[in-house]
Amino acid sequence: MLVAPSILSADFSRLAEEITAIDKAGADWIHLDVMDGMFVPNITFGAPVIKALRKTTEKVFDAHLMIEKPDRYLEDFAAAGCDYITVHQEACVHLHRTISRIKELGKKAGVSLNPATSLATIEEILPDLDMVLLMSVNPGFGGQKFIENTYGKILMLKRMKKEAKLDFVIQVDGGVNGQNIEKLAKMGCECVVAGSYVFGNPDYKAAIESLKI
Ligand code: DX5
Ligand code: ZN
Repeated sequence: MLVAPSILSADFSRLAEEITAIDKAGADWIHLDVMDGMFVPNITFGAPVIKALRKTTEKVFDAHLMIEKPDRYLEDFAAAGCDYITVHQEACVHLHRTISRIKELGKKAGVSLNPATSLATIEEILPDLDMVLLMSVNPGFGGQKFIENTYGKILMLKRMKKEAKLDFVIQVDGGVNGQNIEKLAKMGCECVVAGSYVFGNPDYKAAIESLKI
């Protein structure tokens, strides 16, 4: 299991130190939640902040864009040093074009689905993807409760992946903790995002290790 702590739950006044701490504590990827106050009710940070943080670690920068019309900013996020750029299916009218652009920029391309969005909406584009991010909470805030029907969705996605012999990463984001990690792994999740579970624990290393199963 790859573990991607979300800095949404970090101390924003000490972001560089927080990233260094999770890097040392064994984080595989650094998850960056970009919110625009339109696609989701909350506003966080954008490409300039990511660019400034890029010098703090060599770990994979995993940008989760919860923004409307993300095409407007793909160049900026690529130039800021993001390795994965994940957009929401619900925010893209021409998803194929958006994914192609991310790849042209030399980055890994991901698509995220809200809890109420069906896997069928990305079936045609699965062969083009490096990652599928299944939201297990409604995006916008950290610390929400895991939505149980995500398990069935992960399993279904795993079957689609196997049947079509594809190799995208199956990532799950929202409400992940030491209690549900085993079932997530069993269903086929390969990478978890964890915000409050990691940053809410005084021992980041112990929290991250408990997710690496
Ligand atoms: C939610 C974000 C998540 C969030 C997860 O909109 O996409 O990455 O930080 O936080 P927890 O792990 O606290 O649910
Ligand atoms: Zn996220």
